[in-house]
Amino acid sequence: MSEISLFEQMQNLISDDMLASIQRNTREFSRLMAYYRCALMEIETKFNVLNEEFSLQHDRNPISSIKGRLKSLPSIQEKLRRKNLPLSISSIEENLNDVAGVRVVCSFAEDVTTLAEALLKQDDIALIERKDYIAHPKANGYRSLHLIVSVPIFLENEKRIMKVEIQLRTIAMDFWASLEHQLRYKKDFAFTDDMARELTECARISAELDERMDALRKRIELE
Ligand code: GTP
Ligand code: MG
Repeated sequence: MSEISLFEQMQNLISDDMLASIQRNTREFSRLMAYYRCALMEIETKFNVLNEEFSLQHDRNPISSIKGRLKSLPSIQEKLRRKNLPLSISSIEENLNDVAGVRVVCSFAEDVTTLAEALLKQDDIALIERKDYIAHPKANGYRSLHLIVSVPIFLENEKRIMKVEIQLRTIAMDFWASLEHQLRYKKDFAFTDDMARELTECARISAELDERMDALRKRIELE
């Protein structure tokens, strides 16, 4: 019996038209993801430049880490389905703000504000949405500054405007959010009210830690 590849089996099952449409969509999806990767690079570079300049001026790094990520295809599909939105390439670009995401972890709380303002001042960046969960933490205690911005990417023959979600937070906020995420998504485990209260209390302690570290930094930098 001759071996027949999966591709050939699929070809036998679906029409030429449908196959061509799948191939076209796959190509378009890869292209869109490449654009988002370019947008991530632009935003990451902007923060690296700000970090460089700030460290020359102030003799310390305001950024502890910068991490970019692209949403996976399964997560994109899940979100579109959940929100009852069409599953198409144009729908991804129109409706999702967080296909490209950058997390900027800062040393001190004041650095979050300084960096966000410095980025938003740049004339190629447009602010689409701002959620300040630092001034207004979520009920569970989650703190971070979320920005949805648009940034241009320059291709061979065109300029494209891409959306990027930026999360700015301190090391303490990141520590809490990472552990809370791990605990919340622990498989087959029911989260009790008591545990939720304990997590919120930990968030309060982490906020106090940020305040005290920032106060200490001010005393040292004013010396
Ligand atoms: P999504 O549809 O889930 O993206 O919600 P949204 O569009 O209302 O966005 P929001 O700005 O509230 O949150 C977006 C992202 O922030 C999430 O995908 C998480 O990465 C992070 N986030 C928000 N809330 C929490 C939280 O309570 N805990 C943790 N660990 N992360 C959070
Ligand atoms: Mg999201």
